[in-house]
Order: sequence, then structure tokens, then C-alpha cells
Amino acid sequence: MALERTLSIIKPDAVVKNVVGEIYARFEKAGLKVVAAKMKHLSRKEAEGFYAVHRERPFFNALVEFMISGPVMIQVLQGENAILKNRELMGATNPKDAAKGTIRADFADSIDANAVHGSDAAETAAVEIAYFFAATEVFPR
Ligand code: PPS
Repeated sequence: MALERTLSIIKPDAVVKNVVGEIYARFEKAGLKVVAAKMKHLSRKEAEGFYAVHRERPFFNALVEFMISGPVMIQVLQGENAILKNRELMGATNPKDAAKGTIRADFADSIDANAVHGSDAAETAAVEIAYFFAATEVFPR
């Protein structure tokens, strides 16, 4: 098994619902360690840059508007197979399709406001972590 890092974002809807701690508990119970974290209200430019790969998709503007609607909690998770493990904890993109007991099934209301983001592959994780954190802000343990 590979020790990996992944970027996780607790989105504005979940921050408003005050479930940051409950989501962190799920990471910890699954063996994922928080090795970097910051709360941030993204600028439009930051959100557009982060989701640049989706620029041509029909939901791009709605996604950016939502992501700048309030503060988000951004963290780097480290653990064995952290990327896949986090995606499993998150559940499907559309909460209607998310398996019982996943973060999106329990806390998300819609595909627009779906509580969490998680990197989908090692290459994107590296890019996404560097987008928000300097190397000195990540604390491997
Ligand atoms: S994923 O997670 O990349 O595999 O999913 P994908 O379907 O490609 O979606 C990419 C991101 O866009 C968000 N999304 C949407 N936002 C608003 N409206 C609609 N209809 C919609 N469909 C998808 C989805 O939550 C992904 O955002 P992140 O932050 O990566 O989860």
C-alpha cells in the first residue's frame, strides 16, 4: 500500500451546517491524518483557477459561484491510499447516488452543494496541494 497525500475541501454548505468536526472525525477514524489545514474565503480568481479543468463544462459558473459563497475548510490528508480512501468516505458526486454513511449522503443537499471535494488521482493531488499550501505549511507525521 502507498502512503499518499490528497487535497480535501469542506465546501461552504458543510461549513454553514457546522459539520467540519464531524467530517474531520470521519477522516481520523479512517486512518487519515490532517497534515495541513486552513480556512479561507476563496476569491473568484482562486476558485476559477482551481476548477480551470472544468472551464468548458455547463456547470462551471454555478460551481465557482457556490465555492465563493462562503468560507471553505481546506486540508491535506495523509495516509495509506489516502486518495481513494477519501473518495470512498466522500461518496458519489451527486448525493442522491451516494452510498449510505458517506459524507455526501449524510451532509450534502444537491449536486451543486455537495459538501466536500477530494483529489481524484496522484497527479491532481500534487497540483491541488501546491495550489493552496507551500511546502513549509505541510507537516508530515
Ligand atoms: S469529479 O468529482 O471530478 O469526478 O466529478 P465531476 O462530475 O467531473 O464534477 C467536477 C466538479 O464539478 C462539480 N459538479 C457540479 N457542480 C455544479 N453543478 C453540477 N451540475 C455539477 N456537476 C458536477 C462536482 O461536484 C465536482 O466538484 P468537486 O469540487 O471536484 O467535487
